[in-house]
Amino acid sequence: MCGIAGYIGPRNAVRTVFEQLKLLEYRGYDSAGIAYLANGEIRILKRAGKLSALGKAVEEEMPEASQAIAHSRWATHGGPTDENAHPHYDQYQQIAIIHNGIIENYLELKDRLAAEGHVFRSETDTEVAAHVIGREYEDGLPLEEAVSRAVHKLRGAYAFVVVSKREPGKIVATRNASPLIVGLGEGEQFLASDIPALLPFTRKVVVVKEGQVAVLTRDAVRILDSTGRETEFEPMEVQWDVAAAERGGYEHFMLKEIHEQPEVIRQCLLGRIDEAGRIRFENIFSDYVWTEIDRINIVACGTAYHAGLLGKHLFESLLRLPTDVFFSSEFRYGDPVLSEKSLAIFISQSGETADSLAALKLCQQRRIRTLGVVNVMGSSIARECDRTILTQAGPEISVASTKAYMAQSVVLALLAFYLAQVREAPGVRVGEGVEELRRMADAAKRVLELEPQVRELAEPVARSPLVFFIGRAADAHVALEGALKLKEVAYIPTQESPAGEMKHGPLALVERGVVAIAGATDAHVREKTLSNMMEIKARGGRLIAITTEDDWSCEQVADHVLKVPKMRFDFFSALLSVIPMQLLAYHVARERGCEIDQPRNLAKSVTVE
Ligand code: F6R
Repeated sequence: MCGIAGYIGPRNAVRTVFEQLKLLEYRGYDSAGIAYLANGEIRILKRAGKLSALGKAVEEEMPEASQAIAHSRWATHGGPTDENAHPHYDQYQQIAIIHNGIIENYLELKDRLAAEGHVFRSETDTEVAAHVIGREYEDGLPLEEAVSRAVHKLRGAYAFVVVSKREPGKIVATRNASPLIVGLGEGEQFLASDIPALLPFTRKVVVVKEGQVAVLTRDAVRILDSTGRETEFEPMEVQWDVAAAERGGYEHFMLKEIHEQPEVIRQCLLGRIDEAGRIRFENIFSDYVWTEIDRINIVACGTAYHAGLLGKHLFESLLRLPTDVFFSSEFRYGDPVLSEKSLAIFISQSGETADSLAALKLCQQRRIRTLGVVNVMGSSIARECDRTILTQAGPEISVASTKAYMAQSVVLALLAFYLAQVREAPGVRVGEGVEELRRMADAAKRVLELEPQVRELAEPVARSPLVFFIGRAADAHVALEGALKLKEVAYIPTQESPAGEMKHGPLALVERGVVAIAGATDAHVREKTLSNMMEIKARGGRLIAITTEDDWSCEQVADHVLKVPKMRFDFFSALLSVIPMQLLAYHVARERGCEIDQPRNLAKSVTVE
């Protein structure tokens, strides 16, 4: 999720790559750095904090160079500090690299290199990769060959850009699962992780394919395949305007982030399932602690609270581990009863939500163990919790949270199966859970194909004075999130409740013209939900059902049926059903002409009470 830039040519390379980084700033990074070649040496300028901190250093030093690489970091391994910022040198400062991605086997490589005398200055996986490349380079190979050899030793996702003081006038880059784009100029060449960072300079681009190595010199670009053979490439002419390009061609960040969810699921799992299919987390509590825990309290706000409800569903149904979910604002003033052996889990995208932080302090005072499930590394909640699992969803720009909810829910599922693995929970098939988690990214991709159908429903929903969201079991929790999305971006009043609660009051609000969205992915309770759907229909409500692909019963009752893949665990099918709800909220908001990425009265990070 980091930003990458590179330049070789007659312009001032340092300023050029800095301009490129500015075009990626909308992502909201936590540190940045530049490496450039001057007087036969590689110089590195890097700073923690916003890009302006690096900008100040560039202004002070005014370096001149004809080739440079630059990086803006979204921390995953090691906090956002000057040391952890990219670029990183190898052991002998022969090369410098920048990296977007995660190297899964970096700890084992680091141990091996440390035993050979390598000294590391940062906590990052990237510095380990730099040393691995540097070690191959010691054999006197050309840089592209050393990079090509080294990446065979690395496991994970990466886009690397490398410069060497032994071979000035050359930039080498390669990728696996992380994006990398070459920009072609006249007597100058560019590199970037995203198209927006190229557009002011060139519209002629080459998308580097997985496993390929790009070699840039001032006058030419060569693309090599994974065996080192030169391959032909077809440059593309980009037509986007700059503003649309920042959003990856999408009209709004919300839509971009909804569509990023398959990739986000992959990122969440990256490095957390080993080759034998066992789940592992870095820097987490010991097995002893996990076995001792007798109760879980999940504390969060808004969308993160809704993900917490799904977590409760899993912890209780899979592990029979009593779990409560609290709104942070209630927990902090509620004098909660907390057992000594309990674990408090704080879920937060930003890691800065004031109520959640206050609730965390309360747990610390009571000496309760705390675990953060946080997206922003180095944020207050990530720092303050005893242990933190990062959701690895990348920056979320739209105020309405979508991909963070998916990431939080996937991490909670991973954690539940991890606990089952550690506690040897009777009857839980951890292997099947892992398989399902691995299927989720593709399943999410298939659900996104429902978008044309969802778009057609936007117009009638946009006219509805009130929209109901109902469901049972995990579907009831997802209904809360679907309703929140619709009200916050489309400003339509919603009534959300478990389907069985309708008769106890909310049914009074049903009249001709209202729309009800019913989650019916759970086959165990589907018949019951169908009865509740009929009660709404009988009173003039229009019904949209979300069910699984194997079900044909919803067609009998609902006016429209959207189908998501049938998963082996009901939790996962329910989680997938949030995607059409997010898409519906988006398209209804668009239909109504709302300010989608910045809904009125709301802010991305709620740092005040
Ligand atoms: C809704 C939304 C909010 C946040 C809530 C918690 O779309 O984004 O409800 O989920 O403000 O924020 P974090 O997760 O940053 O603690």
